Amino acid sequence: MSSRSALLAIAESPLIRGFFTKRGMSNPLVRRFVAGETLQDALLVAKELQDKGILAAIDVLGENAASSQEADRATEMYLGVIKALSTFHHDAYLSIKLTALGLDVQEAVAIMNLRRLLDEAKSRGGLFICVDMESSAYTDRILDIVLSEHESYPNIGTVIQAYLRRSDSDLRTLVDNEVPVRLVKGAYAEPPHIAYPKKKDVDSAYRRQMWVLLNEGVRPQIATHDEAMIHATKLYARQKNIPPSRFEFQMLLGIRRDLQESLVKEGYKVRVYVPFGQSWYPYFTRRLAERPANFGFFLKNVARR
Ligand code: FDA
Repeated sequence: MSSRSALLAIAESPLIRGFFTKRGMSNPLVRRFVAGETLQDALLVAKELQDKGILAAIDVLGENAASSQEADRATEMYLGVIKALSTFHHDAYLSIKLTALGLDVQEAVAIMNLRRLLDEAKSRGGLFICVDMESSAYTDRILDIVLSEHESYPNIGTVIQAYLRRSDSDLRTLVDNEVPVRLVKGAYAEPPHIAYPKKKDVDSAYRRQMWVLLNEGVRPQIATHDEAMIHATKLYARQKNIPPSRFEFQMLLGIRRDLQESLVKEGYKVRVYVPFGQSWYPYFTRRLAERPANFGFFLKNVARR
């Protein structure tokens, strides 16, 4: 078991889960990574970021929908965000998950709900919607749906996870079809035949894919906190005379706030992923498991109980 999987397993124990979910948003460690439980909380954080010159990507945290009713509830929630964003800030965008829209219930349900969002976004000035990438069990279905919907809705994009062995080829398909791409390293525990287990291989893939995206991609989104990747992106853009206005850096709420602000000062576009919602625990534990030092804070919190 990798250390990330082990940490995620500890976080799922009823004792630990109970400790964090009981205190919820009053715990500053949770509040660092999650904007809050309501849309108002997320808009408030987005406004604070906007005041610092940082854009937002709003994400509604939720579990996979297990029924059409649950998928419908998630769709309504997303529609609420689209409506709020169209009056709040035109350059903020919405990040969504197809499993929340019903992908595990029936593909047709997820597609129908996705089109409701895309139509609403289109009627409100073409607000951009990014379909987050989930575990490798969903990669084919998410890519197929995004590619097909993009033919009618140019305001949809998705995510490439550099750690997947298949990603060079998937990126090529998305770029050739002019689908906007957010490039990330990948957040799920995947077996080695599917994802590179070594950081150095993930980083090489990330660099390679960043080059393709910067050269040929529509709306390239370089989503990482890794200073080496950020440096490589700036360097490549300079060498190829690609202006900072053609791409954006993205980071997660609460991670490397110093770097977010220094990039803005240097004249780069920066967007921060702002998650909110009542089902925040799985997202929170993924962020902790990404970095052993975070888990140290986490255990100290439990010990201080
Ligand atoms: P890496 O993990 O190598 O970290 C580099 C450095 O960043 C660390 O040394 C540390 O300084 C800092 N850092 C990283 N994570 C940290 C943390 N949790 N706490 C504190 N410091 C941390 N994934 C996915 O599978 N599907 C998706 O749709 C998305 N969407 C997405 C959107 C946006 C805007 C971002 C920034 C990221 C995602 N991700 C994602 C998550 C992504 O796959 C990845 O897990 C994280 O970004 C961490 O990887 P880094 O690129 O930062 O590198």
